[in-house]
Amino acid sequence: MYDIDTLNKKYMNLSDEIYIFDTTLRDGEQTPGVALTVDEKIQIAQKLNNLGVDKIEAGFPAASLGEFEATKEIKSLDFDSTVVGLARSVKSDIDSVLDADLDYIHTFIGTSPLHRDYKLKMSKETIISTAVGAVEYAKDHGLTVEFSAEDATRTEKDFLFEFFNEVIDAGADFIDIPDTVGILTPIFTKELITYAKSNFSCPISVHFHNDFGLATANTLTAIECGANQAHVTVNGIGERTGNTSLEELVIILYSAYGIDLKINNSQLYSLSDFVGRLTGIKMPVNKPIVGDNAFAHESGIHVHGILNNSSTYEPISPELVGHSRKIILGKHTGANALKSKLHDYHIELNDEQFEKVFSQIKSLGDKGKCVTDDDLKAIALTELSSA
Ligand code: KIV
Ligand code: ZN
Repeated sequence: MYDIDTLNKKYMNLSDEIYIFDTTLRDGEQTPGVALTVDEKIQIAQKLNNLGVDKIEAGFPAASLGEFEATKEIKSLDFDSTVVGLARSVKSDIDSVLDADLDYIHTFIGTSPLHRDYKLKMSKETIISTAVGAVEYAKDHGLTVEFSAEDATRTEKDFLFEFFNEVIDAGADFIDIPDTVGILTPIFTKELITYAKSNFSCPISVHFHNDFGLATANTLTAIECGANQAHVTVNGIGERTGNTSLEELVIILYSAYGIDLKINNSQLYSLSDFVGRLTGIKMPVNKPIVGDNAFAHESGIHVHGILNNSSTYEPISPELVGHSRKIILGKHTGANALKSKLHDYHIELNDEQFEKVFSQIKSLGDKGKCVTDDDLKAIALTELSSA
């Protein structure tokens, strides 16, 4: 409809390289009620590596023995994806990352007044000196450093930018801007990232939460304004209402903007299903890209279109993400959908039988029932045998 190069020149400032930093195994595992074993974390990490994400935040090595073992083992697998460990800005946490043999650290400190006054009880000066000390210590030990200002979006703008510039001067390789409680909207994101791009000399990453349902939209906006990296999780799991969803972001960039992040898109559905099973967090049916209904159609008008050309009512093909199309029978079903289903099951009915089966499906639908394929086969075969 629109040409991306024209749009980019007019409204955007896309960076040449966009990195996907997956935090399913860290923030995703912080989803209330989710705890993965070392083995489960390794299995998910293997699939993320196969998918082709640039970075895998494998855990928080200082948090527990299991977290330490998982990050260390994942690192030992010698993936193409860079393996990352989380650490607070304290020496013992950074040492755990080093002991796990990682060479990329994601370290953080709270910068907002709420975090300074009620959690850390530190002055602005101490926050800066602690962060700078952590970066220097990590760099002195050979680590690549990504630094997050926790609760960045509720931090005074002047202080946030002073803070990040000190961290960059101390040697941080990436700075990450978390919207820790998900309060951004696209227009605030645009203002923040545009300003950050013109003020910082190192790559910018974003880590957005989904409290208002805008994490993916805000992350997309950040990328449109030049952010170099996005933190995401499979299925968008994470603290409270979660983080930016990996599958949504990757597919929007691919299908709307033609940006190929070298992700194996056809593995997205099976990865979503796998993570859903291991975490016990099942996706709602209407979850974009990977939900059960993402490519399901019931109404006669839609199914008619789909049967002629699936693009009529699908923005992308289910095969792109390894999903499949479903035609559901119910009160909105049209004759074309029923004919196609009967054809799939090699059931041949004469006109009268067809009309009877069709009206049974409609009347079951009117009673609030959904007709499964097994129900259809039973109804059609009963009609055939009563002939
Ligand atoms: O949401 C957040 O602020 C975090 C930090 C650890 C970066 O997850
Ligand atoms: Zn987070």
